[in-house]
Amino acid sequence: MREPNDLSAFWMPFTDNRGFKAHPRMFVAAKDMHYTSASGHQVLDATGGLWCVNAGHSRDSIVKAVQASAATLDFAPTFQLAHPLAFEAASKLSMIMPEGLDRIFFANSGSEAVDSALKIALAYQRARGQGSRTRLIGRERGYHGVGFGGISVGGIVGNRRQFGTLLAGVDHLRHTHDLTRNAFSRGMPAHGAELADDLERIVALHGADTIAAVIVEPVAGSTGVLVPPVGYLRRLREICDRHDILLIFDEVITAFGRVGKATAAERFGVTPDIITMAKGLTNAAVPMGAVAVRREVHDTVIDNAAPGIELFHGYTYSAHPLAATAAIATLDLYREEGLFERAIELEDYWADAVHSLRGTKHVIDCRNVGLIGGIELEPRPGAPTKRAMEIFHRAFDEGLLIRVTGDIIALSPPLILTKAHIDEIFGILAKLIASVD
Ligand SMILES: Cc1ncc(COP(=O)(O)O)c(C=O)c1O
Repeated sequence: MREPNDLSAFWMPFTDNRGFKAHPRMFVAAKDMHYTSASGHQVLDATGGLWCVNAGHSRDSIVKAVQASAATLDFAPTFQLAHPLAFEAASKLSMIMPEGLDRIFFANSGSEAVDSALKIALAYQRARGQGSRTRLIGRERGYHGVGFGGISVGGIVGNRRQFGTLLAGVDHLRHTHDLTRNAFSRGMPAHGAELADDLERIVALHGADTIAAVIVEPVAGSTGVLVPPVGYLRRLREICDRHDILLIFDEVITAFGRVGKATAAERFGVTPDIITMAKGLTNAAVPMGAVAVRREVHDTVIDNAAPGIELFHGYTYSAHPLAATAAIATLDLYREEGLFERAIELEDYWADAVHSLRGTKHVIDCRNVGLIGGIELEPRPGAPTKRAMEIFHRAFDEGLLIRVTGDIIALSPPLILTKAHIDEIFGILAKLIASVD
């Protein structure tokens, strides 16, 4: 007979289930910058949960709004019906998007936002009479969630190899990570704008009239904090324009202040046609994803459709009342507390702290932008990823939550952190990194 709370039934996502269940680490509460572990310890959150708790944990205004909403309207469909919160959330979100991207489609996660964006891109090409444009172009080392669309355009081998042939007609740009030229760059690396020209190679190979859209993360997170080289995103935009290809920025981790503005598009001054979001949209209090679409793309799909449903896509929980409420409360909180600006104010102090690890044993690169930090370690000979994973476990035991991906430590703290928190994070890390084999 199983214990009522034994660990076997929950098949944990992206987890070494056997390892975890032998040595479980659990959280039972969270407030502001800290988790409380099951053993009662406070754990400083240097990863914003999973890059999603941008305003800090369990914020009162969001909690209260969600509680009241749950007691008032548990659910209402948004297929051929709706509720006012859905429109309010969309309007509020559209107001902080780059100029022109003011049509919002709601999903429940980043993965769903990505698949929605890819489908919108295909529907747009078809609606404007360019139905031969069916190819989707991603990038090596890209992470776009786990739907079949997302893993097809994504460039992470481990996330693809168990799952067969994926979407047809996809191709990938080269990634921009180049330690030989750009190691220890502060902010955007100087070298690599020309890597955007790889899109010209793909256009020459397949023909522009077969390509619907290109999707990239402005800053890649899941493959270890890859900051775009100076000029790279602008060049990608220019090539997309030249060939009439839609450009999608996957901003699931970069939106909502992570790089000091509402979007990375705004921070880097490059406007895509479509932006995908999730995570910080609701401060992770309720799952939600969203796609912001350039009005002309939206209008083309709507205006060219036969009377009736224009886009045959949507989720039962698109704009769920609880999620819409959480989004409204979160966007208000960001504005009231000036949290996007706070990321800019702290950026230099943060960057100094990240780069203070240069020279520490094992560290082969430090990188940063906004309140994102990446520390790349030399892999242990014959045992890649093990060194970083050991640091992850030891940090947890010391009361610090970090995230590791491969041999890279990735940091993305809530934007409410203080300089004292930054000192604490890097004090612990410096000691731990130097102490492992
Ligand atoms: C850039 C990017 N896109 C998509 C996703 C997938 O989001 P979700 O896990 O909410 O499906 C993530 C998650 O980390 C992400 O970083």
